[in-house]
Amino acid sequence: MNRREALSAGALLIASVSMLSAYDEKLIVNTKDMELQDPKNPTDFEYKHMPQIELKGKDEKGYTLVEITVGQEGIIHPSDANHWIYAIELYADDKLVAHADLEPVISRGFLSARVKLEDVNELKSISKCNLHGNYSASIAIEKEA
Ligand SMILES: [Fe+2]
Repeated sequence: MNRREALSAGALLIASVSMLSAYDEKLIVNTKDMELQDPKNPTDFEYKHMPQIELKGKDEKGYTLVEITVGQEGIIHPSDANHWIYAIELYADDKLVAHADLEPVISRGFLSARVKLEDVNELKSISKCNLHGNYSASIAIEKEA
């Protein structure tokens, strides 16, 4: 490694370390996968964290608009400086097809993607709250006759 390469590698390392500490400052503390206490009767606290998956129209290329909002039953999860949904994932069967990283205060728990659903049986989403962990929800995809 020559001097120029070494300087460049050092600058990259410094950039990586400063990105890491910026992420730490956002208080991402709870990465636990949470289970509902009673899956048939979620509490308001659980609804607030559960992603709601909605299917909208299909475009001319056959991609369905999938919208995910956190949470369910009209109970919106807050987006405060110390408490917010920092990421949402969308899986088609077991394949990760969309992912959103979200900022506190300025954005809140929402993701949309266009997905080809013809060979998909289930859509699952995971919402990640920095304080309360990961909550998931899924819907079955009905096949057209
Ligand atoms: Fe939360």
